[in-house]
Amino acid sequence: MEMSTIYKAKTFDLSGLQGISDKTLEMHFKLYEGYVKETNRLNEQIAGFLRDSKIDQEEMPAYSEIKRRLGFEFNGMVLHEYYFDNMTRKGGGDPDPRSSLAAKTETCFGSYARWKEDFAGVGKMRGVGWAICFEDASNGRISNHWINLHETGNVVGFRPILVMDVWEHAFLLDYKPLERPKYIEAFFANVDWAKVDARLKAGK
Ligand SMILES: [Fe+2]
Repeated sequence: MEMSTIYKAKTFDLSGLQGISDKTLEMHFKLYEGYVKETNRLNEQIAGFLRDSKIDQEEMPAYSEIKRRLGFEFNGMVLHEYYFDNMTRKGGGDPDPRSSLAAKTETCFGSYARWKEDFAGVGKMRGVGWAICFEDASNGRISNHWINLHETGNVVGFRPILVMDVWEHAFLLDYKPLERPKYIEAFFANVDWAKVDARLKAGK
């Protein structure tokens, strides 16, 4: 199999979301496809270096640069898949009080409202990146994290439960740069809570 076909861009049926326009989504899917393409391309280049089973000294600078970019491109691909996948046009509202997520927000934060305030707070941080609610599979606890760009701040082995893109491209066609809180509310109006709960259950 050609290396360039290892990762295939997924498709997401997300038209008609609340507060996130189809135009934004179409542009965003294109950006996501770019990460898939670039991930495949970097893997192919690395395979090229390894074809003779050794990395020559003169290959080292180019090889290093490609390796350094892997975290950016891989996470850029995978995080967008989590993000698109945890939205639905039938989403929103608050999670079912009997859901696993609701129970975990109470255990780990005291209430769903406090958890949401923390998650949205992360999303409002200055800079370009992601807000992610992770589950620590070793003890089932959840925590909210800021990810710089795509790769800085992810916790090894933690499972992404809810993923929100807060790069400006996620909302600039719909909101002004300073209106990020409006975009965050729009995101919450589309969250697929059943999917979020399924991710938690999958971790058991
Ligand atoms: Fe994005």
